[in-house]
Amino acid sequence: MEQQTTTLDLREERSSHLQSAAFYTLKEMARGQTVILLTADEPSLVMQSLNLQFRHNLAYEIAAVEGGWQVDVRRREDVAVQDVPDALTRDHKRLNALLGSAIQYLNRGDAAGAAPLLHDLAAVLKRHIEVEDGLLAPLLAPAGEQPQDAPQAIMQREHGEILAQLLLIEECLTQDPLPAGELAAYSSILSGTLAKHEYREENNLFPQWQRALGRKTAEEQKEIMSRVETLLGEG
Ligand SMILES: [Fe+2]
Ligand SMILES: [Fe+2]
Repeated sequence: MEQQTTTLDLREERSSHLQSAAFYTLKEMARGQTVILLTADEPSLVMQSLNLQFRHNLAYEIAAVEGGWQVDVRRREDVAVQDVPDALTRDHKRLNALLGSAIQYLNRGDAAGAAPLLHDLAAVLKRHIEVEDGLLAPLLAPAGEQPQDAPQAIMQREHGEILAQLLLIEECLTQDPLPAGELAAYSSILSGTLAKHEYREENNLFPQWQRALGRKTAEEQKEIMSRVETLLGEG
């Protein structure tokens, strides 16, 4: 793939305008492209907030250079999976894409077209929840009793809700003829529940897990990462 690089010099930009100045260039960033941002001040906070605006679709590296800072930004899908939160976040996108395509078929009344996508979704979603609940939660939970509103406790409760909504879809899939209207209704409910759940995980839980991972040895981190990738990649 041809590597294209664009440099945006923001060193003269007022700090209050930095984010919006970078936003439009990053919005146009194509696959395979690198955008280099030059800033006068340390840009970690600006980059975190931009990445939130782009729903974590940016991968970037910050380096101190003469006269300021340089940030090399690429699209996340252009770089190798970086860590456990990255692997889970990419799996969220895969789930959203499957469910989104199924809903498009259902909105046209084409339940037969949606069915294989919904079967895939069920398999990927159950595996994803198994990785979060079965593998990661026990390994990365904060020590001691967890309050009801702790990010991990919220995650586990929401998984129960998500699996119950998925079960309604799976029951519809066993019927003949397939009930397109019911499938459309249940799929759109699940889509809303998933979107909120993923947002909470990516912004509240995964940073906590990332800190817990940072307290493990390099060996343990590698082992956990490889188990996550194997489990998510199966099937
Ligand atoms: Fe989850
Ligand atoms: Fe998740």
